[in-house]
Amino acid sequence: MITHFADLRLKTVSIQGVKQFYGGMLGLQAIDESDDTIRYRLTERCTLTFEEAALPLSPAHFAFEVPYSAFDDSVRFLRQRGIPLLQWPDGQEETTFENGRSVYFRDGDGNLLELIAHSYIRSDVVQPFGPLRILYLREAGMPADDVVSFREWLKRTLGLQTRDESDTFNFVIGGTAHVIATSTKRRWIPIALQALPPNLHVVFGAAGMAYMEDVRSALGRQGIPYSTSGDKNMSDTLHFSAYGYRFTLALAAPHPAMEESDEHD
Ligand SMILES: [Fe+2]
Repeated sequence: MITHFADLRLKTVSIQGVKQFYGGMLGLQAIDESDDTIRYRLTERCTLTFEEAALPLSPAHFAFEVPYSAFDDSVRFLRQRGIPLLQWPDGQEETTFENGRSVYFRDGDGNLLELIAHSYIRSDVVQPFGPLRILYLREAGMPADDVVSFREWLKRTLGLQTRDESDTFNFVIGGTAHVIATSTKRRWIPIALQALPPNLHVVFGAAGMAYMEDVRSALGRQGIPYSTSGDKNMSDTLHFSAYGYRFTLALAAPHPAMEESDEHD
């Protein structure tokens, strides 16, 4: 089963801009760097990677879960760093919903970032990481033209699960990882941002060799090309593409169990 997001890989038009925002302003720690690539540690188990490319980019949406008790501190940190919070049409910057709170902001490439906190998430199971106090990468937005087909493929092929389903917007969940399978016609809140599919490579942490083999078999049955890395007959990393996105499954220890979830983008 998929247990968490292990890495999110995005393109950028400026590595220097990425460094100023993610390193300088958000205070993330760079753990790997070359001329055109930089990787930041988000948590003990998750990284965020940017690769420079001379490409027109569509903004991605992703969300960091922070402890409910630390939400105000994390938001204060953003304000102190001079990072503008996005506003709803009524001017509000913070969203309060049934089980939590969130704020949105943007990076230098225009990606739509979110800090989100849920009152039911146990923050004593994993250690909040860095100055933003990130527990885990919770959401990665993956707009698709045919949302229902994409959602069903994620369930059938990767064993992800849904609670509620709609033709336009779905959380498709494995452990702490929430893929947002959303329509390209449904705009992102709170600024009605066009949901163009971003150039995105999602790396999932996956538990169990049997699960990896199941996914590999499913890809084979569907005629989807894949590659593996690892020992000879073992696939401890599985790479493939579908619906315009790149995916990697990487065998990992299970994420500490955490209670899930309601639905909120
Ligand atoms: Fe979101």
